[in-house]
Amino acid sequence: METLKPEHINYKELILKIMPMPADANVNGDVFGGWIMSQIDLAASVPATKVASGRVATVAINSMQFISAIKIGDLVNIFARIIKTGRTSITVSVTVYTEKRPFQNNLIKAAEAVLTFVATDNNGKSRILPSLENKNDTN
Ligand SMILES: CC(C)(COP(=O)(O)OP(=O)(O)OC[C@H]1O[C@@H](n2cnc3c(N)ncnc32)[C@H](O)[C@@H]1OP(=O)(O)O)[C@@H](O)C(=O)NCCC(=O)NCCS
Repeated sequence: METLKPEHINYKELILKIMPMPADANVNGDVFGGWIMSQIDLAASVPATKVASGRVATVAINSMQFISAIKIGDLVNIFARIIKTGRTSITVSVTVYTEKRPFQNNLIKAAEAVLTFVATDNNGKSRILPSLENKNDTN
């Protein structure tokens, strides 16, 4: 299996580095897919929140692939990058890499996902992204 060094994937920002524990296992003893999806959602929300300068809500998981198994005790590295912004939406590409013990910085691709967020106000309604707010002003 191909392994990479962190410097080879630095076009995406490393957002989360986290270790699944036995409580995060599925019935087979591997990491539960729902735990991984939750971490991906969390990581992707960070750049989306920055661009929105405030609250965002996940509106879609456009794609999600599990590529290799994540084991309890692996170090999970989650990278994210904004790939598109719209009027109210922000789309983020996420890649998950695992590091196996004893953590020699060899990263194995474990999952990929694309998620879309919508900037929301305090009432949970969509709002225009700050970068577009003044675009319709006439003077
Ligand atoms: C997010 C929410 C407020 C958006 O409502 P809305 O403004 O009426 O939705 P719209 O259909 O006008 O879409 C808003 C934006 O999202 C995009 N969008 C909506 N559904 C989408 C989908 N399935 N895939 C990709 N983008 C989508 C639209 O293209 C639009 O983008 P743009 O403004 O950049 O052009 C509403 O859908 C909602 O509350 N959803 C529940 C969110 C939630 O509970 N998430 C889980 C926990 S965070």
